[in-house]
Amino acid sequence: MKQLIQDAKALLKLNDTGVFIKPSTHQYPHIWNWDSAFIAIALSHYDLEQAKKEVRALLSGQWQSGLVPHILYPTGASDYFPTPDFWQTEALPTGPSFPTSGFTQPPILATAVKKILNHSADESFLKEVYPKLLAWHRWLYRARDPENTGLVSIIHPWEAGTDNSPRFDEPLANLKPVNVPEFKRRDKKHVSPDERPVEDHYVRFMYLIGFYRDLKWHDTAIYEQTPFLVQDVLFNTLLHQANQDLLSLAQQLGEPCTEIEDWLERTSSAFETLWDDEMGMYLDKDVRQNNLLKINSLQALSPIFAGIPSKANAERLVTEHLLNKQEFAPADDSAYCFPTIAKNTPYFEPRRYWRGPIWLNMNWIMYWGLKQYGYDELATKVKADSIKLAQKSDFVEYYDPRDGSACGAKGFSWSAALVTDMLLTD
Ligand code: GLC
Repeated sequence: MKQLIQDAKALLKLNDTGVFIKPSTHQYPHIWNWDSAFIAIALSHYDLEQAKKEVRALLSGQWQSGLVPHILYPTGASDYFPTPDFWQTEALPTGPSFPTSGFTQPPILATAVKKILNHSADESFLKEVYPKLLAWHRWLYRARDPENTGLVSIIHPWEAGTDNSPRFDEPLANLKPVNVPEFKRRDKKHVSPDERPVEDHYVRFMYLIGFYRDLKWHDTAIYEQTPFLVQDVLFNTLLHQANQDLLSLAQQLGEPCTEIEDWLERTSSAFETLWDDEMGMYLDKDVRQNNLLKINSLQALSPIFAGIPSKANAERLVTEHLLNKQEFAPADDSAYCFPTIAKNTPYFEPRRYWRGPIWLNMNWIMYWGLKQYGYDELATKVKADSIKLAQKSDFVEYYDPRDGSACGAKGFSWSAALVTDMLLTD
């Protein structure tokens, strides 16, 4: 294992621009929100200063409104599309001080900061970042849950971090793309097209960005007018865990806690509205259509990460799905834990991005969730499989569950980071 950890550290070093650590060596040359948090979690084990630097780099693009964007371009343009100017976020009254995208990504940063603080009680760092984390979470509830449902909504599949998951097929199909901004994809330069999103989805992704640009990224107008509004299970799960971590940071600082406690209470009880008893899992809700999206995905099982399900519901998630050889468990048709989409569904595609391949951040989420609920044997198996995948096919973006072969971008930082975290934690 020593060698694997050394290789992981070497990759994070290779991807270090001096200002931030890139998500991958070629495909993703800017800051991505949850990538930076995952990277900081690994660094907290062996290089606290670099971990803090990564957190600061991400927070440096925070908008005055509190939003922490999903992509930040502190070092300017590259061969990546969307380019910094595509978003038209410069010169907005509530916007950033340098170009960023206009929406956010799963908020796991408070969890990363908590892990940094576990390794070193650096109160001045905590004092510096705590108000920024609080402002982000406040923005999430204010801008994305103005109706006080307890669950925040996403306005674009890219905010979910699971861009082209079949969970979004229906809400995307309901859009009527008009006035789509002109664009030229560059995501297929480093990665094979059959491992990337299909063209029709890409057009709809761009249509939504154009829609928000026209609204000048105004939060209230977006919430009221967007044709894409989804309460995403994984996003709210990570937010709920981040709120638990934020609460503990507030207590450390002696800051008021009631606002965070209120979020925790409201979000955990609102999760009941996403539970589908027939399918035995949590489903994303299409807020515009007012229905649950009945897609059997790994994300639907992720609330164990934040301690959300009752013991009985957790048991259903594990026995009916994770251990089910037709869905997520290894069998003749798949060799490793866990495909991101159930294998026995019509939309399962083992090599296409978020439509089936194994992603190590999802394995990491399931690993910690399983441990929390006492499923130690399965947790150990997920960890062992993640290690095997990295050893067999390197730290790549995602893996074909049938044989563990490499897919997507090469030199992928969070794959290295999260294997390192699992190896160095116990
Ligand atoms: C892809 C992933 C997204 C990630 C980004 C950078 O777009 O879908 O979750 O943040 O790459 O790695």
